[in-house]
Amino acid sequence: MNIVHIVVLHGPNLNLLGRREPEKYGTQTLFEIDEGLVALGHELGAAVTTLQSNHEGVLVDRIQASRDDGTQGILLNAAAYTHTSIAIRDALVFCERPTVEVHLSNIHAREPFRHRSMFADVCIGQITGLGVESYRLGLRGLVAHLRRG
Ligand code: DQA
Repeated sequence: MNIVHIVVLHGPNLNLLGRREPEKYGTQTLFEIDEGLVALGHELGAAVTTLQSNHEGVLVDRIQASRDDGTQGILLNAAAYTHTSIAIRDALVFCERPTVEVHLSNIHAREPFRHRSMFADVCIGQITGLGVESYRLGLRGLVAHLRRG
């Protein structure tokens, strides 16, 4: 089985997971979530690398780079930038890598400004509201999509 290369990107404030509004975002830390995704990647035959940034441009740079660095798919929780960032959307269109959008909380059941995602229509799918399971299902779906290739 060929190894597929996946980048997991986390946006602003997700470095605070475990401490930040645990009733909405759960008690696992970002480190624990990432560890779990790397381990799941091993089971699925995927090499998973992760990056968190509070800076939009850092996320844009990483998405741009994925077009040429061997990255085959992106698992993205852009956090608050989901609702605002045309720059991240444009980078996703440029990089031409299948992307799954994930959210811990159900963005459609929250404030109206969270209902809109700037990139839902350029992603292959969106999983929202299932806590850490959103990431894990997203990774499974992305790997399955790449294997169907
Ligand atoms: C989030 C939802 C966003 O609306 C919010 O700004 C976040 C986290 C989630 O995973 O539920 O920071 O992306």
